[in-house]
Amino acid sequence: MAGRIPQHFIDELLARVDIVDVIDARVPLKKRGREHVACCPFHSEKTPSFYVSPQKQFYHCFGCGAHGTALGFLMEYEHMDFVEAVEQLAGSLGMEVPREGGETPARPKREFEGLYAVMEQAAEYYRQQLRHGPRAVDYLKGRGLSGQVAGDYGLGYAPAGWDGLLQHLGKEATDAMHQAGLLIQKDGGGYYDRFRDRVMFPIRDRRGRVIAFGGRILDQGEPKYLNSPETPIFHKGRELYGLYEARKASSRLDRILVVEGYMDVIALAQHGITNAVATLGTATTAQHLETLYRLVPSVVFCFDGDRAGRQAAWRALEHALPALRDGLEAYFLFLPEGEDPDTLVRQLGREGFEAAVDGAMGLSDFLIQGLKERHNVLSHEGRAHLADDARKLIRDLSPGFLREQLLTELARLLNLTPDRLERHLGDAGEPLPATAARPQRTPARHQLHMTPVRLAIALLLLEPELASTLEPVPELVSPDIPGTELLVELLETARQNPHLTTAAMIERFRERQEYPHLLKLLEWEPAASDSDTLRRMFLDAIARLVSKRAEQRTEYLLHKSRVQTLDPEEKAELNALLTGRATR
Ligand code: UTP
Ligand code: MN
Repeated sequence: MAGRIPQHFIDELLARVDIVDVIDARVPLKKRGREHVACCPFHSEKTPSFYVSPQKQFYHCFGCGAHGTALGFLMEYEHMDFVEAVEQLAGSLGMEVPREGGETPARPKREFEGLYAVMEQAAEYYRQQLRHGPRAVDYLKGRGLSGQVAGDYGLGYAPAGWDGLLQHLGKEATDAMHQAGLLIQKDGGGYYDRFRDRVMFPIRDRRGRVIAFGGRILDQGEPKYLNSPETPIFHKGRELYGLYEARKASSRLDRILVVEGYMDVIALAQHGITNAVATLGTATTAQHLETLYRLVPSVVFCFDGDRAGRQAAWRALEHALPALRDGLEAYFLFLPEGEDPDTLVRQLGREGFEAAVDGAMGLSDFLIQGLKERHNVLSHEGRAHLADDARKLIRDLSPGFLREQLLTELARLLNLTPDRLERHLGDAGEPLPATAARPQRTPARHQLHMTPVRLAIALLLLEPELASTLEPVPELVSPDIPGTELLVELLETARQNPHLTTAAMIERFRERQEYPHLLKLLEWEPAASDSDTLRRMFLDAIARLVSKRAEQRTEYLLHKSRVQTLDPEEKAELNALLTGRATR
């Protein structure tokens, strides 16, 4: 194991770097008041809602909710992992990244670099073989592809024979090739090429690095497509074929089509429709959807019109619901029996296919239709089952326009008023979260309800030095007041590291489940920002917490004293509480 990057270095790095420079170099920013703004690079928009705060060293998009520190930005925008982002930032400041135990950055990254390199070389080899492989060229031409599109997608050909690639890359590369899934080990030892006599589709990650291949057989045969196995650099539930190419073809995507096959993506591109991606022989995962909605507000799923296709679509719907924040849309395009996007775009042409996409079924229609198909709305029992199914689906949906709309339509279907429906849905199991009073088109800046704990944490994040204005308060932690433990931990961290910046404080929690909550709290803006006011607000929040906890403890001890005798310690504590001494 290679050494970890020491915490103090990350603190130091975040104290030195300016997030405004980091982002401005990639997404030009305009100054507006104390902040800097731009159109958000993580979703498509026409008016800027992406804010960068030099004070907090934090970015936040009020449109899609993306947010984070300079490190987080690099990870998202450049698709880097944490260590890569640290190295990039350090490099830009001319700092060397130290490792604990004095080791240089060996860690898995070096190994991965070998894998990426060998995949790139393999892709190059397959491309070059395509030039000498008339059968493969004829095959691609026969499927209507131009040299241009074949080039854009880096298509290639793995020659027949057992060891073309192995010979080409040489013995030294054997380990890396095997790890990258390019070779298969023989029973008696030794290796042979995994891909033989196939048209090769390189699968690229979002940064354009080749991480896997799909290989299609030229004639009839099994399997039709052979794919790379899971490797350290390839996890198929996460990747989307064609996403890199789609982003490259257009700097501002506003919708993405999700299709099933490599050839569908490529045939669509051949007809000028460059915004299609394919899952890699898996169902659409929640992870896919998170990725897609990061980029575009609208996703259109293309499925076969047959039974299996509709079932796959329903699963996609189930995964899409939790990802659908307000303003995001999902559509379902069902293709005629026996067609796939490849064959359909050849018949209809670009305009015809796009018209079909424009006419795709909206998510709420598909959901209502699906529920109707599954249950008999004419019987009382059927309606109860339907409501039960609906409850499970709507439960995942955040409050907003779509949820309202679905509730209205379901109410009509079940012949109930929306109010009664809501009660009914609530009765059938755990209560549904309250519906928003009205759809929020533009998220408000102060939507978070600031309890004393949240207030104290938010202020401490904003101004870690506040911790030093306070003596350690052991009686802060209360199991009945959520967040007090986190607050105490933050206080402790800030006390032990007197010069910690906001960003460094946040980054310490990156791997923790509290991380998203902390990011959310950082969006909060105090009404005044002079340090005196902040300090007063902070001490006031702490005082409220201490007295709240004292109240709870008193109540508990009083209650206990009624049913049993308190031990001497508890008695003393209760006494102190009642005379008000414990609250300082
Ligand atoms: P299809 O069989 O629908 O592929 O499988 P397709 O793209 O229409 O194939 P063509 O038009 O005959 O060339 C859809 C996807 O499922 C995966 C591949 O990712 C394929 O693109 N698949 C299919 C496999 O991984 N292995 C197979 O044997 C078949
Ligand atoms: Mn096909």
